[in-house]
Amino acid sequence: MVVVDNTFSPMVLSPARLGADVVVHSMSKFISGGADVIAGAVCGPESLLNSMMDLHQGSLMLLGPTMNAKVAFELSERIPHLGLRMKEHCLRAMEYATRMKKMGLRVVYPGLEDHPQHHLLKSMANKGYGFGGLLCVDMESEEKANRLMHHLQNSSQFGLIAVSLGYYETLMSCSGSTTSSELNSEEKALAGISPGLVRMSIGYTGTLEQKWSQFERAISRTMDSIL
Ligand SMILES: Cc1ncc(COP(=O)(O)O)c(C=O)c1O
Repeated sequence: MVVVDNTFSPMVLSPARLGADVVVHSMSKFISGGADVIAGAVCGPESLLNSMMDLHQGSLMLLGPTMNAKVAFELSERIPHLGLRMKEHCLRAMEYATRMKKMGLRVVYPGLEDHPQHHLLKSMANKGYGFGGLLCVDMESEEKANRLMHHLQNSSQFGLIAVSLGYYETLMSCSGSTTSSELNSEEKALAGISPGLVRMSIGYTGTLEQKWSQFERAISRTMDSIL
């Protein structure tokens, strides 16, 4: 059985159409879009879901399968504009990734032609959405990564330091010392998680140019403080 976690790429990828048996989502991320809801979804064959909710042995039955009705209603009201939101997350991520690369930064984003899986993603993705709302900038050391995030949050308000994703504001975290800190250094290297990697979930508040000028300001302050 193939299970795909599509939390990072709703609308962009449709794993069930590509052959996945089960698709899971943390709905607390892009699907909610508001960082105010904790919810999840398991999408799969009825027989599997029924077995998970089995009164005596089902794992969901033991953990709690029923979403709060108000939360379910709120989420259902946000799904109609999930497509529009994803397009904007993706469009801005692509634009920033391109501009950051031009600046000489080391950027990891599957929308860039030089990403090793660019063509694979292009062949799998639904047309018109883009390449996802997350990008990474490799600042080489954790210290430089923290300095950049500090300036992006506190000097220019480009984004917020937080480990979540899919919010309307840009969220940033240093993956190696936060979300993937449980991996040892070999596992991190295999996954391409260098100590200075800053993961950004790109938001869409303000205009693109306003946000870009905030990024430029924070980068020049970071470089000033390093030199
Ligand atoms: C890919 C992915 N799946 C699932 C989760 C779990 O989300 P939740 O805390 O809403 O259960 C996360 C959390 O960051 C995630 O990044």
